Amino acid sequence: MPSVPRKILFVCLGNICRSPAAEAVFRTLVANRGLDAVFEIDSVGTGGWHEGERADPRSRAEGERRGHDVDSRSRQVVASDLDHFEFIICMDRANHEAMTDLGAEEGKLHLLLEWHPSPDIDEVPDPYYGGEDGFVRMYELIEVACGKLLEEMLVEEES
Ligand code: 4NP
Repeated sequence: MPSVPRKILFVCLGNICRSPAAEAVFRTLVANRGLDAVFEIDSVGTGGWHEGERADPRSRAEGERRGHDVDSRSRQVVASDLDHFEFIICMDRANHEAMTDLGAEEGKLHLLLEWHPSPDIDEVPDPYYGGEDGFVRMYELIEVACGKLLEEMLVEEES
């Protein structure tokens, strides 16, 4: 079991579709292992258009169908997030660039799909302007990558 809290921030553009889904999935995985107390998990958007809103209903519905409680409220990243969180995990390269521009340490910054086994995809596509199938694909990618991320963190902690 991790001896120190792991502070993880998931990042997308609007914080209503992808990063709330990643936050909810990671919370499910952590809760399933009884590790809620040792992880701090949050999500933000690089933009603030949806500040205070619940996640997109399509993201909530598909998340619920898969057993995840998508209950976050959208917020835009603030400067203190860059210091506070140890892992800043972005959904796509534009988010990654935006966080670099804000001054995030390169060593903290990742793309979530670094933890996805497929070499053919490295970004979680933005499903906002598409159909509901985009939300299914989004969760498929996020669930696999979050599972690998957590496994890797737990193995690192043991070694
Ligand atoms: P997200 O999706 O970055 O996965 O939350 C989006 C949500 C809203 C907008 C763009 C992307 N928007 O332009 O309002």
